[in-house]
This record gives sequence, structure tokens and C-alpha cells, in this order.
Amino acid sequence: MSIKFIEDSKIFKLDSKTSTYIFGVFEGNYLVHYYYGAPIPDTNVDELRVRPGFASFCPDSPSARVFNFSPDVTPLEYSTFGAGDFRLSAFAVKNSEGNKVTDLRYVSHKITKGKKALPGLPALYVNNEDESDTLEVVTEDKVTGAKVTLIYTVFNNYGAITRSVKVENASDKPFYIDTVHSLCVDMPGADYEMMDLYGRWVKERSLDRYPLHHGIQSIKSKRGSSSHNHNPFTALVSKGANEEYGECYGFNLVYSSNFSIDVEVDGFRSTRLVMGINPEGFSWYLAPGEEFYSPEAVMVYTNEGIGEMSRIFHRLYANNLIRGKWKKAKRPLLINNWEGTGMNFDHDKLVSFAKHAKDIGLEMLVMDDGWFGKRDHDNSSLGDWYVAEYKLQKGLSGLIKEVNDCDLKFGIWFEPEMISPDSDIYRAHPDWCLHTKGRDKSIARTQYVIDYSRKEVRDHIYSMMYDVLSNNNIDYVKWDFNRNLTEVSCAELPPEKQGEVFHRFVLGTYEIMDRLTTDFPHILLENCSGGGGRFDPGMLYYSPQIWTSDNTDPIERLTIQYGTSLCYPASTMGAHVSANRRTGYETKMNVALWGSFGYELDPDKLTPEEKAEIKDQIALYHKYYDVIHYGDLYRLITPFENEFHVAWEFVSEDKNEALVTVVEIKRVYDEFFMLRLKGLDPEKYYEIEETGDTFSGAYLMNAGLNLTHRPHGDGVSYRVHLISKD
Ligand code: DGJ
Repeated sequence: MSIKFIEDSKIFKLDSKTSTYIFGVFEGNYLVHYYYGAPIPDTNVDELRVRPGFASFCPDSPSARVFNFSPDVTPLEYSTFGAGDFRLSAFAVKNSEGNKVTDLRYVSHKITKGKKALPGLPALYVNNEDESDTLEVVTEDKVTGAKVTLIYTVFNNYGAITRSVKVENASDKPFYIDTVHSLCVDMPGADYEMMDLYGRWVKERSLDRYPLHHGIQSIKSKRGSSSHNHNPFTALVSKGANEEYGECYGFNLVYSSNFSIDVEVDGFRSTRLVMGINPEGFSWYLAPGEEFYSPEAVMVYTNEGIGEMSRIFHRLYANNLIRGKWKKAKRPLLINNWEGTGMNFDHDKLVSFAKHAKDIGLEMLVMDDGWFGKRDHDNSSLGDWYVAEYKLQKGLSGLIKEVNDCDLKFGIWFEPEMISPDSDIYRAHPDWCLHTKGRDKSIARTQYVIDYSRKEVRDHIYSMMYDVLSNNNIDYVKWDFNRNLTEVSCAELPPEKQGEVFHRFVLGTYEIMDRLTTDFPHILLENCSGGGGRFDPGMLYYSPQIWTSDNTDPIERLTIQYGTSLCYPASTMGAHVSANRRTGYETKMNVALWGSFGYELDPDKLTPEEKAEIKDQIALYHKYYDVIHYGDLYRLITPFENEFHVAWEFVSEDKNEALVTVVEIKRVYDEFFMLRLKGLDPEKYYEIEETGDTFSGAYLMNAGLNLTHRPHGDGVSYRVHLISKD
């Protein structure tokens, strides 16, 4: 068992492949945190609890009955508001008397094999019970009757632990959950640098890195989605940690709505991190007997650098988060018509698309926005999910038949959480959009958001989608989401439940995604939110790939894909070659190969030379599919610190194959360019396919690969393919 309870010292010891995590039950039934870091065998850890700094301004705990025990300086496992700990609170309830004082103490625990699902929420899962062990620690706030179970699962094969929280109202009075973070981690010292992924539309997931400072540093969303602007991910790394060296603590929330990550460094230089649902705009009314589950948080620890942290996330998500038919199966090579035609298409245009696409070697046509209602612009018809027969003159089935006759699969676009003011559905149900009585309805891209917290509304939308999907031969759905939530309140809920609407909305989205993937298990669901506005593990639970960004410029994509790769595997990143002119097709392909590859252009407009080039690219896509989708990523030169080169490498699991890609952003003159590779077997010999030269893995990782005489120029790129003959 990777989880033990040591009776003598009353500690819980959670051992993963790369980490040990220890907390325990202390005097007064406080849950005290002792250690999180590299594996240690020790169980005698009490001295890790004692912190200096006790003074009259750090309140004593009468129930701990130990001199100098103050909740304000003690590392605590799950902090609460108002009972002696002035640092960040992981949890607080507002009780029926109106105050928020909350104090959780240990009651009991149990350790079991495997892992349970979280009701209504996406979460990591196990393929068999031996993969993990789970600890549930029950705590209680005596005054309010809030019973809070802290749930930990250790993934034995990875350096990963997941955490979530279950709240029950075991009293006879209602209370409000005011704050419910999914995890709280107290760490000694503050010598960490924080890394996070920030951005905006068409510039998602750039990397920020800064030393922790005293006080609170935060990353949050209150947009009703995880957002383009901040990702629910952060890492605390030791100073100077790089891809290969240094301690890294990675945290990621399996959630697609308002999240919050706060890191506080206190005056004694201790660090606390809390992560979970953003408390701003949240309050959950819990009646006696009811229960509430927080989203799941994932913690990864390694002392082998940022690259290894990413690879742990990648393996974990590929094996224990992504589900269904497309988890391991080779995905169809698609062409999407959005950048090629926008909404300006009809039956003949799409059939011509399909014929050309087949000729080039593509496998699926995805019909994007514009096929339904009276949709010629983005100002109408969202919610009218029936075919626009004035555009698709032979109906959907007539179109799909002709696409299938070209031996292509067919995919379709929906934006199921949105409604246009100019739509039949809005005219029939003007109250179905999110709105607040007496206030303007903010409009964005000429659309409103449907109130997915309401079951009848969700059911209505899903029944329209069901008709389309069950009556047609559809293999793929792109689920889009093109604006954020405003005027968030629900016409159906009483005042005490209005603080629940953001969370109820995303639970509604998850429910419909669950129904869709259950009713149509063969369908490949690709998530999208104006590009990568909901690129988070919550979405990956339902959709194995996500459209990474609306920005398909290969040079701009470098930072986007590099940043995304911090915790999300290549197979999850939708990446397409488009017709923009910034670089040639070679670089467009080399960059898009780092993901779930496809095309996004009008094939009718390709010259014969371009068609021939794309045919060759498709052969390469097939050749490299396995090493990219199932191999390990090693980042070699980052675009965040280098203006000339960017480079990355995939290595197969057996280390017999590697694919290195280099992009020269700006022309380099007369540089002796030795690129040191990573992740190879030092003892094996690798042949470089392009030159026939052979070097040992040790040579390639220490002396490097000589790229001095490779092609040069602005936006030029190339691949180096290495095969071991051993
Ligand atoms: C935003 C998406 O990111 C695009 O790929 C495209 O699907 C448009 N929406 C369609 O409206």
C-alpha cells in the first residue's frame, strides 16, 4: 500500500514514485502537515511541525494542550477561517447565526485500494485497483455540524497525488459553504519561484516565472470558464530549476470554471498554497443531510526538473484522465473548413473540399460554424440546431453521404451553451439566457449564454443535438464556447442559492458532455473556446483533444504550444496547418506536428506544388505519429528566452527512436550550433536518418548534435530523426 497510517505517531504517510507526503493527527485533533518532497523513509517527523514565531499575536490553541502551539504558525493540513490561523483559509462556512468562524478537527479515516469517481465532476480514474490507493480523512466542525472529508489518491506509478473534498451537513440547520478549496499545502521556507500560464485570446498559455514575495500572489478566473487569461495550473520550483534539474511542485485543477490559486508567504517565511473554486461569486447553501464535492486537484512532485514534472503530468493524463475509444486509438487526420471558408459555404463547396481532401490523403472533413438555422454571420441562429437547407441543399445526410462516398469521415461544429438573440429558440424562450432582473444583458460576439444551471434548458438543447447526431453518420464533434459569463443569476433558484449558479452552470456542461460521450462513444469530441479558452483537465476528461488556439501562425504557436506543454500532453493539443503566409508549409507542418495534427485551409485554392508538398507531409505525419503521441517530450530550447532558435524532441518509450524539431525564428549567421539532446539511452547508438551518421546517446546528450550546416533563414525549420539499431 502506498498509504500508511502509523499508529504510534498518528501520521499518514503517502508514498508515490517520486514523493513522500506526510501529515498527522496532533493534540486537540488538529490535522498538522509535516512534509511534502522527495521520498523519505522516516516516520519520526514531529520536529517538522514546530515553527518559531509564537507570540501574543499568534493565538494559542486551548485544545491542543501543548505550550506554544498556535494554528497561526503551525503547518496545517486544511486551514479554516477565524479560529486562530490568519493565513489563507482553505475552508469556511457561514453558519445559521451569520458568522464564518470554522474549525475542522480530525474524526476518523479509512484507506482503500483504487479510487472512487466524484459525482457529477470530471476526475482522474484508475484502470485497475492496483494503480492507486485512497485515503479519506473525516473532519468535523462541532459548532456547525460541517463534516468535511479530505480525499487523497496516490497514483503508484507516477509522482502524483490527487485531492478533493466532500462536505456534508450533519446538523439540523442549513449553512453556506463560503470557501472550499480542493487542496492546501504548507511548505517550509519561501525560496521558490512560481510559474504560471497567462495569456489572452490568440496568445494563450505564455509562461510567467517569478520569485515568491511576502504576501499573497494569485491566479484566478471569474469568467465562468478556466479562460484564455489564466490556466488552473501553477508550479513552485526551486530557484534556478531548469528542464533537467531542481525541485518542482506542479498543481493543476480539474475544473473548467472560476478557479483560484493563492500562494501566501508569511512573515516567518513559510509558504501556503490553496487551490480550488474561486470563492469570489461562490456560496453554496447546504441543507441538513446534503453533500457537496469540490473539484479534484492534482499535485505532482519531482526533483528532476521542470521537464520531468511535465512528463509526469503527460503520462498521468494520457493514461488516467483521457477516456474512451480515442484514448489510445489513432485519431483521424482532419481538415476543418473554418479558416478556408468561414460561414460562406454550401453543399457543393463542401463536397469539393472533401474530394480534394481525399486526393491529398486526409481522413475526415469537419464542417465548422455556419451549417444551422440562418447562420451567415455570427449574429444569428445559435441554439437553432437544425440544418440550414438553403446552404446544404441535400440536407445533412445528403452531404454526409457524399463526403463518406469520398471515403472521408464527417465531423460537425456546435456551440451548445450559447444562444443568439436572433434565433427561433430565443424568440420562444427569452428567459433562457443568463440574465439578472433589471440589468442590461451584456452581449459578446452578438450572443448570450444559455443558463445551463437549468435542467429543462439543457435537456432541450441536448435533444436537438441528439437528433442531429443519432440521425447522421457523424464521427467527430467540435464543441465551441465563444464568450464568458455575465449577469450570472438563475431565474429559477431562490435568493439563498444564487451564489451557486457559476458552479451549477459548469456541472450542467459536464452533464451534457457526459451524456454525449455516453450516447455516442464512437464520437471524437474536440473541445474549443475561441481556441484554447477552456484548455483544462476538466475538459480533457470528456474531450481527448482541445483546439489549442485560434492563432495558427506557426511562429506565434511556438510560445502557445511550449506553454501548454507544461502540463498537457501533445496528443491533447489540436494543431493545424493553415494558409497564412508567414512561413512556408514546411514550418507550418513541423510546428503543427507537435499536437493532434490537421489542416485548416481551402484545398481548392492549393497550387499543384502545394498539394504535392502536403501529400508528402501527410506521409511524414503517419511516420511520426507514434513517437509524438505515445513518446516523451523533452523541451530543448524555449521560445520564452531565445530569440533565434526553438527546439523540442520526442523520444519513444523504449528509447529506440527520437524526433527533434528545430525552428530558426530569426536568421542566424556563422554560429557553431551544437544542440544537446535529452532522454536518449547513453549506451545506445543512434543513426541520424537524414545524414546516415551514427552517434552514441551519450555523445548526443553531452557533445550534442551538430546543426551548424542545417538550413538557415527567418522562420526556417527542420526535423532530425534518430533511430537506434541496437
Ligand atoms: C472559434 C473557434 O476557435 C474557431 O475555430 C471557429 O470554430 C469559430 N469559433 C467558429 O465560430
